[in-house]
Amino acid sequence: MSHLLISIITIGSLFLPTLVNASVLLPPLTGPFSVSLDTAELVDSSRVDPWNSTHTRRLMVSRFNPVPPRQCRSTCPVPYMPPGTAAFQDAAYARLGIPIPPGTFGSLHLQLCCDAKHPKTHPHADWSRNSHPTLFFSPGLGLSRLFYSAIASQVASQGYTVLTIDHPYDADVVEFPDGSLITSALPVNLTDEIVLKVATVRVADVRFILDTLAPHGSHAVKKGRVGMFGHSLGGAVAAAAMYEDERIRAGVTLDGQVGSDAATAGLDRPFLLWGAGGHNSSTDTTWASFKDVMERRGEWVKELELVDSAHLTFTDLPLLRDVLGFAEVVPPQLSSLLGNLKGERVVQILGAYVAAFFDFALKRKREGLLAGPSGAYPEVLFID
Ligand SMILES: *[C@@H]1O[C@H](CO)[C@@H](O)[C@H](O)[C@H]1NC(C)=O
Ligand SMILES: *[C@@H]1O[C@H](CO)[C@@H](O)[C@H](O)[C@H]1NC(C)=O
Ligand SMILES: *[C@@H]1O[C@H](CO)[C@@H](O)[C@H](O)[C@H]1NC(C)=O
Repeated sequence: MSHLLISIITIGSLFLPTLVNASVLLPPLTGPFSVSLDTAELVDSSRVDPWNSTHTRRLMVSRFNPVPPRQCRSTCPVPYMPPGTAAFQDAAYARLGIPIPPGTFGSLHLQLCCDAKHPKTHPHADWSRNSHPTLFFSPGLGLSRLFYSAIASQVASQGYTVLTIDHPYDADVVEFPDGSLITSALPVNLTDEIVLKVATVRVADVRFILDTLAPHGSHAVKKGRVGMFGHSLGGAVAAAAMYEDERIRAGVTLDGQVGSDAATAGLDRPFLLWGAGGHNSSTDTTWASFKDVMERRGEWVKELELVDSAHLTFTDLPLLRDVLGFAEVVPPQLSSLLGNLKGERVVQILGAYVAAFFDFALKRKREGLLAGPSGAYPEVLFID
């Protein structure tokens, strides 16, 4: 571990509220656990940044920790984004044609446990000896990890430590504890070569974090308590990281393809394919190939569809649209990518099924919601 330099900055010093707007609270979490948040910068000093050779690879992660309710003295509003990112997103969404006042993204707050009585220890010990399984999350191409915080915290409230990862230079913007920003280095027109490079760099990011937080031989790895999920390209990265690293015991793609190695050879661990409306194994050849090889190998694979959903339904954006009251002002081309489900409902559904999958795959419980259609969740279809 001597080649790894880790600096940890907790949220308290990082997210200072600076805005004049009234707070807009995201809905409280509904799982059995309260959730606390800390964020960290992780520096891989063994790797020159593949997108910028002037420095080593630096990542930002958010860690959502389940906290037993009796250990959480109070819940308080926690800024959804740090200030530099919030200002960046205000401007970016204004450019998409949404009449968004400055301060909008900065007004958003999660409701989280803010004074959990959990011991502060060295991050290594703390993160790898965790009693809850750890789930890594990789975002869609060009998207900030912060736009998945509501989903991640809802999954965490079901008893998972959820670690969302920013991949600098492919995320639109990544803000570090010193306030510096790294914006996307991707060209407007993406080529297959660039997308492949993005995926390769992301897999290396995930494996670096695993080496840091769940090294070979660690408690979490020996107990098989590491999983991964991701949205869009991040879902392909979940499959690719599993293909390359057996420490990740189970995975989920949310409306993302499966990378070519995994699609051709399959995996020897459970994997869930979950598509938006119209994305299924008859429309995605990588899913068809993956499902076929998994079934032939006798491995666990299932395919779900979320009705009335579109590609960006699998982000926090539908929830943000609703809590900000923007349903009427989002331009049609963005609105159609968000789908028609209510944002709060989306977070409930994703939290329930992602947790049910990892309960089965990592906690050795029954299939639960994954066993078949549920009257409580008519929006979720099972595809043979
Ligand atoms: C690369 O990083 C340096 C700081 O180390 C920064 O000044 C420069 O703008 C970065 N280049 C790109 C293309 O982002
Ligand atoms: C990107 O591709 C579009 C459509 O092919 C083209 O019109 C545009 O000029 C390209 N932009 C850049 C920056 O290459
Ligand atoms: C897959 O999506 C296509 C396109 O929307 C649809 O026609 C087809 O019925 C879907 N397949 C299944 C098995 O639902």
